Amino acid sequence: MDLAALKQTIDQATAALSSISNDIDEHTRTELHKSCQKLSASLETPDERLLRNCSGYIEATMIKLVLDTGIVGVFNEQLPGDEEVDAREIAQRTGLDYALTGRILRYLVALGVVEVTAQGRCRALPVAKSLVPGTVVHDTVLIVSGLYVPLFAHLPSYLRQNNYHVSENGYNGLFQHTMKTDLHFFDWLQAHKPEHDAFHRMMEGSASSKDKSAWTDYIGREWFDCHLPSAGGKDFMFVDVGGSYGHELQAFMRRFPHLRGRFILQDLAVEKNGSQAEVVGDDADVKGSKCDGEHCRQPRPIEKMAHNFFDPQPILGADIYLLARILHDWPDEQAKVILRRIREAMSGSSTLFIFDRVFSDGMEKVSHIDAVYDALMLALFSSLERSESLFAGLLAEVGLRLVRVWRVSEGIADSQAVLEVVRDGVLQRKAN
Ligand SMILES: C[S@@+](CC[C@H](N)C(=O)[O-])C[C@H]1O[C@@H](n2cnc3c(N)ncnc32)[C@H](O)[C@@H]1O
Repeated sequence: MDLAALKQTIDQATAALSSISNDIDEHTRTELHKSCQKLSASLETPDERLLRNCSGYIEATMIKLVLDTGIVGVFNEQLPGDEEVDAREIAQRTGLDYALTGRILRYLVALGVVEVTAQGRCRALPVAKSLVPGTVVHDTVLIVSGLYVPLFAHLPSYLRQNNYHVSENGYNGLFQHTMKTDLHFFDWLQAHKPEHDAFHRMMEGSASSKDKSAWTDYIGREWFDCHLPSAGGKDFMFVDVGGSYGHELQAFMRRFPHLRGRFILQDLAVEKNGSQAEVVGDDADVKGSKCDGEHCRQPRPIEKMAHNFFDPQPILGADIYLLARILHDWPDEQAKVILRRIREAMSGSSTLFIFDRVFSDGMEKVSHIDAVYDALMLALFSSLERSESLFAGLLAEVGLRLVRVWRVSEGIADSQAVLEVVRDGVLQRKAN
């Protein structure tokens, strides 16, 4: 291979892309980015990769420092245009030590958040707006630096002290040890509003980011054609169990604007004023749906219901129960209680969909991001990401049967999948 020619080709592609990068649609951009990452990974040495991964926690902690010191706030709030400022002025406005201010600014320049002008003054780049409170980046920094960093700092010594035995109880693990609490992570969140709000917005933001598919995108059109009532058909019942702000429920409602019935969002605590939330189909969805536009444009309310999923499920015989990113938060015994509660409520025609990472059984197929999430589950919840056979075993133990694993495409790096589950003893229903 002519490596000099290859380098020239890559340089030309880089120049061409940077001149049109703002005009590329999101799907194409994501695909191109994935290809570039693969190209870059093919040249990175194993040592370089390890070293890059080792510094991740430093970045999250530094960005937290940037937020706490108010330096980004100066750019975003006090200089909302693209005014230039120097380090001394920032030090005056924040009351910070001048030398430390210079070092933090240097970090922001290296991070691509601030640029330095020819006169040596600083100006915020548009991405600085991603660091204001309420953005996904801001929320993620709050959760990662405030919770994940301390947990992972304690993980090795905690496991050593426990002879490398992983707790089988989500109420008694590393999280409780590190945060000096008896509460489960989710109960702790209820009592810590900034972290609670940041966590739920983060879930909502990550679920709706443009390169992620909603859970319905994993399931073949034929399943919905077969199992959903047509326009004007019988009332439909859907329960999103542990649904957070309801983003996955809303994705479903938007995709099927013709469906009428009860759309129920359950979580530990639900926003009191949220019961009026109404969803209409997007225009694109309405056009492709089973009924005329008017019917499909009628808003449909979401019923919000405070419900603890360890208690008996109050909605009996729903058409669909959804557990999205729930079971990976719980060790086996607690996951089985959650499943049993739904099993007790299901009728012969109910379907339970489980949306989670579902590893293939061979260890060689696990991607880096999947392994990172598995480590996160261990640290936060003493739980795990499961393989297909672990899920099948868990379901069988509580009288449920795995009918099918729906994946967007085989062999992609991200192993998220939807498990279609029925009550054991229910024969195969309709064509599927
Ligand atoms: C990882 S989030 C998943 C949220 C959402 N289903 C999604 O896919 O983005 C876990 C959710 O479970 C909820 N949860 C935790 N413990 C619960 C319990 N005992 N009963 C009901 N919901 C609970 C949390 O409040 C949180 O919204």
